[in-house]
This record gives sequence, structure tokens and C-alpha cells, in this order.
Amino acid sequence: MTVKNQAKNTALYALENRRIVAVVPAAGIGSRMQADKPKQYLTIQAKTILEHSLNVLLSHPVNFDQIILAVAPNDPYLSELPFLANPRICVINGGETRADSVLNGLKQIAITENTWVMVHDAARPCLTHADIDKLLAIKDPNGAILAIPAVDTIKRATNQRQIQQTEDRNQIWLAQTPQFFPVDLLRNALQTALQQGLSITDEASAMEFAGFQPHLVTGRTDNIKITRPEDLALAEFYLSKQK
Ligand code: CTP
Ligand code: MG
Repeated sequence: MTVKNQAKNTALYALENRRIVAVVPAAGIGSRMQADKPKQYLTIQAKTILEHSLNVLLSHPVNFDQIILAVAPNDPYLSELPFLANPRICVINGGETRADSVLNGLKQIAITENTWVMVHDAARPCLTHADIDKLLAIKDPNGAILAIPAVDTIKRATNQRQIQQTEDRNQIWLAQTPQFFPVDLLRNALQTALQQGLSITDEASAMEFAGFQPHLVTGRTDNIKITRPEDLALAEFYLSKQK
């Protein structure tokens, strides 16, 4: 049996009745944002970016059983936010890297064979319920992620920043979150990848290293990850259009 077949052969999950938990990594410092606090605590339309992101999950009709929020240890900003009182939100300490934060979150989940996790960046406040629904509709036991097909021409660079070659754009996708996997598979994959010192910037890459081929689901270009100062105005515009 090849490793790739593993997910298919363990497809014993009753996909219709699975329990769904969310993990929201929010323990970053937002260095590229250059603000006076981590970007998830900046405000758009009177709410923090973190609140916008959590609200999309909290208000989705498929009840996320639990939403595990990974924040920096001794985070001074969190206690001011009203959603803390929500019994579905469980706050835990994040880790050094995003992958560590997510893994800490996964360790909080009581694993049954039928539990899936949706991991969503705190820094993506413009997610829509329709996008969550598209992910939930995928019945691939390898899991699925939101992504958008590349529209720009893609160049591979040399170390001297000269163009080595042009990639085939038709095969390039830009990964977003949420990313959606069986908890047990993702936890093992992330743990193994981190132990091997691999650089893991999303959940799918850990799954790929473990031999799985997660499904790509076409997302929306407005599901931006707020990263640099100019992204704030864009997110504000997108959020105002969604109302
Ligand atoms: N994140 C996390 N734990 C870390 C690092 C990042 O939970 N150790 C979270 C961030 O809070 C964010 C998401 O992972 O919600 C995506 O990461 P990114 O956009 O890179 O945020 P930052 O790491 O905060 O920003 P930067 O890389 O510019 O410092
Ligand atoms: Mg980062």
C-alpha cells in the first residue's frame, strides 16, 4: 500500500455525522504590520480583526462544537474582548510558530474517529459562510483547503534574484484558510513534521509531507490575510460590501 492510499483506506469516517471543531491561531505578533499591537487586535468597524474572524465561525449554522483560540502567553489584549464569555470558546497558549500554535490547539481536542477540525487564521476576517459551506461539502477523506488559482504569471527566481523559469500557472494555487482535516491525521502529521524540523506554514503542507493529497476548493479573493498596513483598508472595504 502506498502512503498516498492511506487516507482512502481509512475512510471510515461517517462524514455526514462528524463532529466539527475549529482552531483559530491568534498568537502571532504581526511584525509585517508594524502596528503598536498584534494585528488581530486592530479595529475595523468598531470590532477587532479577531472578533470579526471568530464571529464568522460562531454565527455559522453548523455549530462548531468548540472553537479553540490560541493566543500568546500573557496576551494583554484578550481580556478586554466580550466573546470570552462564550462557552464554546476555549482559550489556550499558542507556540513559537503558527504550526506550534495550531498543534497546541489540536492537543486540546478529545479525539474520536469522527472528529474534524477547521483551522482558520485570526488574521482573515473577511471569510464568508458560503466558503465554510464549500469546505464542508467536500467528502474527501484527505481533507480540503480553500485556495485561489494564480492569476499573475509566476516566476521562479535564482538566489541572485534573476528569473530561472516561468512556472505553469494553471497548476499554481494560493492557499488560504480555513483548512479542514480529520483531527487525528492532522495532529500526527503536524507533530511529525515539526519533529523533523520542517518549515510548516499551513496545515496542508504537514499533510502533504505525511503523504496525503488534500483537496483544493476554490475560495474568494476577498478572503485576504491581513499582513501589511495597506491590507487594513482593503479588509474594511470588503467587510462593508458583505453587509
Ligand atoms: N500565529 C500564531 N502563532 C504564531 C505565529 C502566528 O497563532 N507563533 C497566527 C497569527 O496570529 C495569524 C496566523 O497565525 O492569525 C497567520 O500568521 P501571520 O499572518 O504570519 O501572522 P503573524 O505571524 O502575526 O505576522 P508576521 O508574520 O508578519 O509577524
Ligand atoms: Mg507569521
